[in-house]
Amino acid sequence: MTQDELKLAVAQAAITYVPEKAIIGVGTGSTANFFIDELAKIKHKIKAAVASSEVTAARLRSHGITVLDLNEVSSMPVYIDGADEITPQGAMIKGGGAALTREKIVASVAEKFICIADGSKLVNLLGKFPLPVEVIPMSHAVVTRKLNALGGDARLRMKDDQALLTDNGNMILDVHGLQIADPVALETTINNIVGVVTVGLFAQQGANVCLLGTAEGVKTLQF
Ligand code: A5P
Repeated sequence: MTQDELKLAVAQAAITYVPEKAIIGVGTGSTANFFIDELAKIKHKIKAAVASSEVTAARLRSHGITVLDLNEVSSMPVYIDGADEITPQGAMIKGGGAALTREKIVASVAEKFICIADGSKLVNLLGKFPLPVEVIPMSHAVVTRKLNALGGDARLRMKDDQALLTDNGNMILDVHGLQIADPVALETTINNIVGVVTVGLFAQQGANVCLLGTAEGVKTLQF
């Protein structure tokens, strides 16, 4: 099976986690896009969605799905999103699509985080995928020095020869070369650096379920 076929399989499996008449949180990225397209097929069964990025909001709306502002929503049964890496314990690296801050915020309101990922995302040790960190623009140099002092190699994410700006108008540092043995502790350490908005470690509040696409079918990991 191709990677896209695996992503489609987990997106289809995730539909069984969508309760009727619910408001659900929707993530960002290529796997989330497959999920949004599957969600469109049952859109009459849900009330609305909360999006983790402008791109996701636009895709949801293009299917005629109502998108609510998070400030109008006090609880959601599920948040469904992909990951860049996930451990057998449910800790994740996210933010390859630069949407980590809104993803973490929307996920924090949901009762359950359902991670949908192809099998290549499962790792025993996080860090091969460069760790995204969203920073306030005026702080990117000082935060880079502090992340490098932790043993990383932080690089400003670029787009079209300019620093990429997130939906929140901030910048992303991608930290290469980390071997993250204790993701819960590193999440706290990086959160405490002044100038950091969000670190793309989702360990303190990780996934509750991971639907993992493999050649043998979709495996369900519960955490
Ligand atoms: C977006 O910012 C990310 O957190 C994505 O959820 C993550 O990068 C997974 O993306 P893919 O589904 O495209 O691999």
